[in-house]
Amino acid sequence: MITFSKIADTQTFLYQQKTNGLKIGFVPTMGALHEGHLELMRRAKQENDILVVSIFVNPIQFNNKEDLKKYPRNLNRDAELLKSVDCDVLFAPDNNDMYPEGQIIKSYDFGNIEHIMEGSSRPGHFNGVGVVVSRLFEICIPHNAYFGEKDFQQLAIIKKLVDIENTPVNIIPCAIVREADGLAMSSRNIHLIDHEREVAPFIYQTLKMAKDSQGVFSPVKMKQFVLDKFKGKPEFDLEYFEIANETDLQPIKQWDKDVGTLGFIAVNLGKVRLIDNIRII
Ligand code: PAF
Repeated sequence: MITFSKIADTQTFLYQQKTNGLKIGFVPTMGALHEGHLELMRRAKQENDILVVSIFVNPIQFNNKEDLKKYPRNLNRDAELLKSVDCDVLFAPDNNDMYPEGQIIKSYDFGNIEHIMEGSSRPGHFNGVGVVVSRLFEICIPHNAYFGEKDFQQLAIIKKLVDIENTPVNIIPCAIVREADGLAMSSRNIHLIDHEREVAPFIYQTLKMAKDSQGVFSPVKMKQFVLDKFKGKPEFDLEYFEIANETDLQPIKQWDKDVGTLGFIAVNLGKVRLIDNIRII
């Protein structure tokens, strides 16, 4: 594995690989790698000639300074994990290289997707994601880029981003990877203290119950069902449960078997904010 920290070195090397006809598979990350990331990487490795992974904790997508400060960072551990999936190139830039002083941060218009759910809870978050991913695509020039469906809304934003920027990259969505007890894998899970980790699977259990009630409940009733479930669990602070279509993530009022539909949830458990989703239709 070759590790680069400088943009120019990375670009020169990858441009050369591309010119030699090699297909580049790319997995952007903020580090704190877990099995969910490794699954994306294994797939990227299989479907491309070279696997490029970036590790960069992107400050402009955090609207909460505390969250940014406590984001887990351990480059040595991550580098070992990358070797285990036979990663070819690690790109780990520093902040000054990615955001040189005086550089103007672009503002995207992602439309409605940007303002609902994660967008309304975390203003500016998706613009920050758009800016960094667009920059990473310019540097790593991938043929294929892999994103997990746990961040389904982020995935929708990235699809929109490549349309806006006309970036020649295939965006490949990958299924959520879960712990054996159903908890969606996330870099934030390590912040759960013992009792919180024990109860955390309740989130996915509730999503599954909601999904199973689809033949019986209207979307409004299903939402109420989930709210009621969490009312009985004071350790959780439910931020939202929304039922929305899969294309522009707008909330649906009634079921339509021809419209892909998912349930989306964000919950605070202690000091940890967790998101998850489930396909309903
Ligand atoms: O999903 C993430 O880890 C980040 O949002 C991403 C896509 C690497 C951009 O910083």
